[in-house]
Amino acid sequence: MRRPVPLWLMRQAGRYLPEYRALRARAGSFLDLCYDPALAVEASLQPLGRFPLDGAILFSDILVVPQALGVKLWFEEGEGPRLEAVRKGDALPVFDDKRQGRQLAPVYEAMERVVSAVPAGVTVLGFAGAPWTLATYMVEGGRSRAFSEVKGWVGRDPEGFARLIGTLENAVAAHLVAQLDAGADAVQIFDSWAGALPAGALGRWCIAPIRRIVAGVKAAHPQAPVIAYVRGVGQRCESVAEEAGADAVSVDSTVPPTWAAEQLQTRCTVQGNLDPAALVTGGEVLRQAASGILEALGHGPFVFNLGEGVLPRTPPAHVAELCDLVHGWPGGAER
Ligand code: CP3
Repeated sequence: MRRPVPLWLMRQAGRYLPEYRALRARAGSFLDLCYDPALAVEASLQPLGRFPLDGAILFSDILVVPQALGVKLWFEEGEGPRLEAVRKGDALPVFDDKRQGRQLAPVYEAMERVVSAVPAGVTVLGFAGAPWTLATYMVEGGRSRAFSEVKGWVGRDPEGFARLIGTLENAVAAHLVAQLDAGADAVQIFDSWAGALPAGALGRWCIAPIRRIVAGVKAAHPQAPVIAYVRGVGQRCESVAEEAGADAVSVDSTVPPTWAAEQLQTRCTVQGNLDPAALVTGGEVLRQAASGILEALGHGPFVFNLGEGVLPRTPPAHVAELCDLVHGWPGGAER
């Protein structure tokens, strides 16, 4: 039997939805929204109220994990996240399972409520940032262009940096396991800044930490699918598919879908990779881009998604159209 290709969108709850902007205004701040289970559940469910999506991702943020490690975090309006920078020579944050469990309890409560509220057949996803991406925010103190602080640390003191990464591995694995304990069906690990790593460093700082986290998650939940989203690495995502032990690799829009079908789909499920700008443009641009991806990847194990998160300027009507395009595509895989 042929089944329709499933789809969900990274950042499917967000500022492109007027009801999200209203909820966000009601919550006061982004972090208040993340830590209030009732509001976080509402945000998680908003996109499902509008669109026939196959996945619901918990509304939260990757930076709650550094925050649970004791790193100060705040959001400046229009500027994104800010953190109290952790630099070489500073005392490293320490992972304490119990403290993290207490601090992130509202997140797990929100997960439990999302799981009981979603319609049958909808996959509930938990997530976390990968150690490298979290470390870039922690060491740079926020978003970065050049990554000079974090790369400086790696160059001068790789052993010390490896201790920070090790702490993050433990914290991230515990966070993912707790979301699965709360009822999540699958989890995604976001390595959004993997593309900043030079060729020889991807294995040590991106792939190996993800592999250890996947192993930790599988030890507690052997059946739970783990998706690795590794952005900006081009065809190096082949090594991720080969070595990270994830069930699926999520690829950005620079990866040619036909290449991904040949080189990745033979090893694991592929997720991706519509350019979020095509979703802003809509019309023929959206139809062509989506069908190209479906033709290349839709015949094998595949989850339709974007190459990165939904842009705030996206017209919601284009998301509805994308759902029709993907679910109406006639060639879904034999299952
Ligand atoms: O719908 C979903 O995908 C679930 C929720 C989610 C958010 N952030 C909500 C959010 C997820 C999965 C994330 C992941 C995340 N957060 C990543 C990895 C994915 C990626 O986009 O690369 C990163 C790097 C972060 C850190 C972060 N959080 C940044 C850089 C920002 C600012 C971005 C912006 O658009 O201003 C955030 C804030 C954030 N996280 C928002 C949302 C909806 C916007 C907050 C708001 O203004 O309401």
